[in-house]
Amino acid sequence: MDVQICKNYEDLSTKACARVAAWIAEKENSVLGLATGSTPEGMYEKLVEQHQKGELSFRQVSTFNLDEYIGLPADHPLTYRAYMNDHLFSKVDLLAANTHLPDGQATDLMAECARYEALLQEAGGVDLQVLGLGHNGHIGFNEPETPFSSATHVVDLDVKTREANARFFDNKNDVPKKAITMGIETILAAREILVLVSGADKAEALRGMLYRESTPAFPATALQQHPNVTVLADEQAANGLS
Ligand code: F6R
Repeated sequence: MDVQICKNYEDLSTKACARVAAWIAEKENSVLGLATGSTPEGMYEKLVEQHQKGELSFRQVSTFNLDEYIGLPADHPLTYRAYMNDHLFSKVDLLAANTHLPDGQATDLMAECARYEALLQEAGGVDLQVLGLGHNGHIGFNEPETPFSSATHVVDLDVKTREANARFFDNKNDVPKKAITMGIETILAAREILVLVSGADKAEALRGMLYRESTPAFPATALQQHPNVTVLADEQAANGLS
């Protein structure tokens, strides 16, 4: 993994934006794998700014998000679809039909996982996958002990993950207990992976991803097996790297 230490969050966001823009400049119909959460917010802001300056068009781009909660009403402001609308989709020229997230409202969840996986294959697979990193090493919502061979599937969210995400909800009991996520094998099929890691609270998880032996006990260590991973870490997250 190529680890680049960024001066601060701003610098990390600028570099992440540049990598996405470089893919689109090279291949205008790029397929982007996208993440939600706090870490990529700055990157989305910068992508929107570039678009508004007329420097970047998403007209031919397709997007596939990593994951979506199960059971939130479609109009709930905390679905990952709502997050993506707020941070990117409604602010750039992406075609709505080219934006994809798992459907957390599907009545047949197994069929929904298969549909999502097939749609990804039909689109030719992900070119650039953007990832955040969970404190417990999760990528997407692949919690510890998820097999590295997993495709898109339904997960029970880890207690720690629900606690971490409770900050967005009025009541911690409102955090959904289940989600649909791309599997680890799905993530590893991307041509390039960009992992964004920000803040002192992620330093231990970053060390785990880089230095622990590759083990399902710490899902991000699966990325050690991928030939083209760049990690953008700000100085706080990178504190203590040897
Ligand atoms: C989000 C996702 C998660 C987050 C991770 C880090 O779509 O799949 O793996 O990337 O939980 O979240 P933040 O960035 O909020 O610390």
